[in-house]
Amino acid sequence: MTSILLIGAAGQLGRAIQDYAQAHELKIIACTRQELDAAQPESIKKMFELHRPQFLINAAAYTAVDLAETERESALLNNAYAAENLAKACKDFDCVMIHVSTDYVFDGQLDRPYQETDSTLPLGVYGQTKLLGEQLVQQACQKHIILRVSWVFGEHGKNFVKTMLRLANSQEILKIVNDQRGCPTNASHIAAVIFKMINQLKNNQQSFGIYHYCDMPMVSWYEFAKAIIAEAKKLSYFKVKEILPITTADFPTPAKRPQNSELDCRKIEHAFQIKRFDWRADLSVLIRNILTQNT
Ligand SMILES: NC(=O)c1ccc[n+]([C@@H]2O[C@H](COP(=O)([O-])OP(=O)(O)OC[C@H]3O[C@@H](n4cnc5c(N)ncnc54)[C@H](OP(=O)(O)O)[C@@H]3O)[C@@H](O)[C@H]2O)c1
Repeated sequence: MTSILLIGAAGQLGRAIQDYAQAHELKIIACTRQELDAAQPESIKKMFELHRPQFLINAAAYTAVDLAETERESALLNNAYAAENLAKACKDFDCVMIHVSTDYVFDGQLDRPYQETDSTLPLGVYGQTKLLGEQLVQQACQKHIILRVSWVFGEHGKNFVKTMLRLANSQEILKIVNDQRGCPTNASHIAAVIFKMINQLKNNQQSFGIYHYCDMPMVSWYEFAKAIIAEAKKLSYFKVKEILPITTADFPTPAKRPQNSELDCRKIEHAFQIKRFDWRADLSVLIRNILTQNT
């Protein structure tokens, strides 16, 4: 049986990966930060010696985009040096590393979807530290997949869907940014993509490198919010009456965000026959589950 180690198991994506594995009867060894702190090489070594994994999924990261502007050291440690520690262990134990990264490595100025070969230019500390993490992984472990994803949402953890549901419950008017565009991506779809990649890598070890994956279609945050509220209103009463489009300039944040976050997913489709999911498909079920959790 393939031995798969998951790092960052308590996070939004980590929990979606565990849910997916459980639903598909796939065995994984899931580590929270308490069980394995990737910033501590000794902690990694112990786990590797115990389990001798063939694949490692790194879903651990420092993801507080705005806070990272003032907590640079913490972002650097967990996004860059922790990723390097994991990559070195993967190299030492001949393990394939699947490292999750982000659309925020780009500046968002292109007027087409970003390809894996496009120049990176992060706008903030979060993106800079994630980019350094990618580079350190590439240097330390040849057998790597760097999977850049975007606008992640799901049942667990903090995300835009949950924020919209909370605001829609407490405010009559929501003002949402309409000049940043990207592809919302359901964490459970990323989980499916990762397991599909692992399945193929078991047989063909030639496909290492950077890949992009995001659900479709592309929308603005405002359009995403409208879709979320429309689904939510079918299921329950919400106070919100109006959703208004605003510009980034109307809603300043400590960290700048890319205006165009769309990732070009043709490479992963060709190499792994992975087709993009539609984020709208399971949105209603997801919202129902979130609302049930909150009652
Ligand atoms: N969320 C998004 O919209 C988004 C978009 C694009 C890409 N991504 C990428 O997707 C991946 C997963 O993100 P997510 O949304 O699941 O993030 P998340 O909910 O913030 O989860 C990250 C998890 O990593 C853990 N962690 C942090 N440092 C660690 C360390 N040194 N050792 C072990 N665990 C550590 C955190 O533990 P604590 O709770 O103890 O801090 C947390 O449980 C990340 O690589 C992120 O950069 C996310």
